[in-house]
Amino acid sequence: MISIKSEREIDLMREAGKLNYLTHEEIKKHIKVGVKTKDLDKIAYEFITHHHARPSFLNYEGYPASICISINDEVVHGIPSNRRLKDGDVVSIDVGVELHGYHSDAARTYIVGHASKEVLDLVKNTELALYAGLQKIHEGAKIGDIGAAIEEFAHTHGLSVVEELVGHGVGTNIHEDPDVPNYGKKGTGVTLRAGMVLAVEPMLNLGSRYVYLHDDDWTISTDDEKPSAHFEHTVVVTKNGYEILTGEISNEEKQTK
Ligand code: MF3
Ligand code: CO
Repeated sequence: MISIKSEREIDLMREAGKLNYLTHEEIKKHIKVGVKTKDLDKIAYEFITHHHARPSFLNYEGYPASICISINDEVVHGIPSNRRLKDGDVVSIDVGVELHGYHSDAARTYIVGHASKEVLDLVKNTELALYAGLQKIHEGAKIGDIGAAIEEFAHTHGLSVVEELVGHGVGTNIHEDPDVPNYGKKGTGVTLRAGMVLAVEPMLNLGSRYVYLHDDDWTISTDDEKPSAHFEHTVVVTKNGYEILTGEISNEEKQTK
């Protein structure tokens, strides 16, 4: 079932989205060589709970941490640990925030220190692929329009698209209908309606698109061990387009948080 959110619900989701953005900003301050990924997890946990919210991922289907941190060949769902960030690492941070019963979901990928042009382009183009997908969103468009745009952008830039994981609806559950694949055919799939809230989240690889699940039953990595990047926003569909709920907020707004 695909839920259409009321104005009141969208207001609440804006709040959850803002806190997600601010959590990412807080984590970003600490991304440097030598930091342990479990320290970043703790920073996220403290920040979210201090703001009277809850990390959506903690205990979700038994997930043991507040955020996902996936490094280099890890695509998504990396579990924070004693591992320390090092120069050249490609670090994907995925944050879920539940506030007043509504969730928000957003991911970003950072490069720690120096990296090759190829890796810099992987990260830049994965973010641009997200926006290429988002630009297709408006009432009356189809889910397949989003995936087709992401896939085309990725392939044009020599990147492959992970197909085993997809974006999703968001609301009172972190994962709701519909699925939002990062591939597909335009003009196909569910018709978008104003008030639908979607998490769009391309995971793009420098090498092959194939991935495997680690023995920890969470971490997903590329088969060929080449790096992967991940960007995600939670957005609400509107009549003429979309509104990003997890996007940047103004400085004035930050003062009041
Ligand atoms: N943002 C992730 C996703 O949509 C959620 C992580 S699931 C968790 O797939 F279990 F790791 F929390
Ligand atoms: Co998601």
